[in-house]
Amino acid sequence: MTRTMVLGVGSFVPENVLTNQQLEKMVDTSDEWIRERTGIVERRIAGANTATSDLAYEAGKRALEAAGVGADELDLIIVATATPDMFFPATACLVQDRLGARRAAAFDMSAACSGFIFGLATADAYIKAGLYKKIMVIGAETVSKITDWTDRNTCVLFGDGAGAVVLGPGEDGRGILSTHLHTDGSMSDLLYVPGGGSRNPATHESIDQRLHYIKMRGNETFKVAVRALEEVVVEAIEANGLKPADIDVLVPHQANLRIIQATAKRLDMPMSKVVVTLHKYGNTSAASVPMALDEAVKDGRITPGKLVLLEAFGGGLTWASALIRW
Ligand code: ACO
Repeated sequence: MTRTMVLGVGSFVPENVLTNQQLEKMVDTSDEWIRERTGIVERRIAGANTATSDLAYEAGKRALEAAGVGADELDLIIVATATPDMFFPATACLVQDRLGARRAAAFDMSAACSGFIFGLATADAYIKAGLYKKIMVIGAETVSKITDWTDRNTCVLFGDGAGAVVLGPGEDGRGILSTHLHTDGSMSDLLYVPGGGSRNPATHESIDQRLHYIKMRGNETFKVAVRALEEVVVEAIEANGLKPADIDVLVPHQANLRIIQATAKRLDMPMSKVVVTLHKYGNTSAASVPMALDEAVKDGRITPGKLVLLEAFGGGLTWASALIRW
């Protein structure tokens, strides 16, 4: 059976660093609170003239280079994002043009922080079905643009960045072994942006009420995230007839170090097997998993043959896993 293999990975973050100390001057918070409650130390913030497609393009270019694949070979580009450049066209269309991927169809995937794995599952289905041969999946976000910089409950958490993979048919049993996607729309109001869409179109009033910014009931989201992620990693391992000890590397969504530690504990996995980047980048939503994946490939933790488990949780609510024989 054809499996979908990751041919190359790339990532990109904006230069501008925002530290916890700088945030102390903006809202009533402390470096100590942010480190202890989240594990975040600093994050990257895109400039006023930088949009999500700019970060996505840079990550995509690097993934093509790593894969040794030309842009004109791509059949499809999926950009997972909750912070598109515009309502439409899709950010993926803008990236397609910048990369010069003339043959590729392109669309966006909206599943908040889980978007990259939802995109990966979609691409996997196309490749397995034999419809497409080369697909790029990008997770890219400028969460800073929808962050309320007066709300200490959310503004300390997020950052900007992008990560990308190029996928193609696999060989020697390597590739994506399984994906599992989950949604519970009944909890959509735990984490959302109420304004700017068709429910509450942008008006002077909606802007004054700050409806165009992220709202999150953090503590409730935290509890659901811990439970859902514990379940989804066990589901992936059991579906493949494996034991937790078989997993070589866990690449979790980077929302909160305590959530990541809870998932690792559930698998009885030492933190040395877990890729953690959130101290440097915060929660970059759909970009966090491919950014962490890129780091672990570059530093040699992920090498051919390793069993790599990806997981994510986000607005929707959505959560997902992907198990890959690298
Ligand atoms: N600095 C100082 N104090 C703060 C801050 C801050 N930045 N933010 C909140 N507090 C206060 C609260 O006001 C509260 O004070 P009170 O007790 O006087 O009311 C106290 O700290 C505790 O607040 P909690 O919300 O209970 O804190 P918690 O330990 O739950 O941590 C956090 C908050 C970090 C947001 C955590 O709940 C979390 O990580 N949630 C999950 C986030 C997540 O996974 N989101 C999904 C992915 S994101 C996406 O899809 C876009």
